[in-house]
Amino acid sequence: MADLVRWGILGAGGIAGTVGAEIAATPGNEVAAVGSRDADRAAALAGRLAAPRCYGSYAELAADPDVDVVYVATTHGQHHEHALLALRAGRPVLVEKAFTLNARQAREVVAEARSRRLFCMEAMWMRLNPLVRTARAVAESGRIGELISVRADLSARFEYDPEHRLYDLAAGGGALLDLGIYPATFTWLFLGRPDSVQAVGSLSPTGSDASVAVQWLYHDGRFAQIASTTLGQNPLAGLIAGTEGWISVNGRVSRPTSITIHDTTGDEVLPDTLPGRGYGPEVAEVERCLRAELESPLVPLDETVAILEVLDGVRAQLGVHYPADFQ
Ligand SMILES: NC(=O)c1ccc[n+]([C@@H]2O[C@H](COP(=O)([O-])OP(=O)(O)OC[C@H]3O[C@@H](n4cnc5c(N)ncnc54)[C@H](OP(=O)(O)O)[C@@H]3O)[C@@H](O)[C@H]2O)c1
Repeated sequence: MADLVRWGILGAGGIAGTVGAEIAATPGNEVAAVGSRDADRAAALAGRLAAPRCYGSYAELAADPDVDVVYVATTHGQHHEHALLALRAGRPVLVEKAFTLNARQAREVVAEARSRRLFCMEAMWMRLNPLVRTARAVAESGRIGELISVRADLSARFEYDPEHRLYDLAAGGGALLDLGIYPATFTWLFLGRPDSVQAVGSLSPTGSDASVAVQWLYHDGRFAQIASTTLGQNPLAGLIAGTEGWISVNGRVSRPTSITIHDTTGDEVLPDTLPGRGYGPEVAEVERCLRAELESPLVPLDETVAILEVLDGVRAQLGVHYPADFQ
């Protein structure tokens, strides 16, 4: 690989520009090319990110031999197709969350990457956030005693629009895959796979989940309460409770503003010190893995698949089905 990791961005929408700017700002990395369904959109984003090449199709981007990794930044409904496109062209991939619409699609992408011995990772940047990693290390250290429960929420108001990807079932619409994937992954970091799951929710007029509230239960008595809604805000981010104390994660689980560790000695507050929009650790982890190993131990592919298996079960309980579930 060249000294600089050369990124190709697939899809020129909102998150492509945000993460693309952080790639361009991370030493050791550059945006080498942008691919869009629309050549003008590709050229505009390439111009903003000082990328030397742009393409009016995703296939041309995937075929570019001077791209070291493709960042799949399209909507969830397209991740399966676009990750496979890049992998089959021989490119490692970073795939936006939700990695795919369901566990079957995720297993297919992971199998393709492993059979070709190509790097593949879900862009679950929260797992790489230093405060989230600290919270996990503190919980594992026993400082707050035995873990009892986790509560986590990520919510944001999105005006109802049947055309918007959040309400479009073909695009993987719904609070769960767009927002709920964060508190679900957050909970998994502390408690792992639940033994049983109970979900309730409300649907939008298109049949996508507008609000979802889930309990994860464990045979040993531990439990989690996880929620997301696209109808409004919720100030709760994350709370990990143990027999001797708790850790509260403040702001948003995806990027906390601070964490508070409460133990027998009192409160310790650790503030966020990450620069920019907070995607730097994700970019750095991709760069590290491309130089050293095929899968990130911090964002394990097997857990990406396993969490989607749990979310498939949640959607089944809510009655939310995507066309891709029947393929
Ligand atoms: N990590 C994060 O913090 C974060 C934040 C927001 C969103 N996301 C995730 O990033 C993904 C994209 O979200 P976004 O907010 O960037 O969406 P967006 O602004 O709508 O952009 C998505 C892009 O996907 C491409 N696309 C390809 N096929 C499409 C189709 N059939 N319908 C619509 N778009 C299609 C389009 O790019 P071209 O037209 O240029 O080809 C479009 O601009 C989602 O999976 C979302 O969950 C992650």
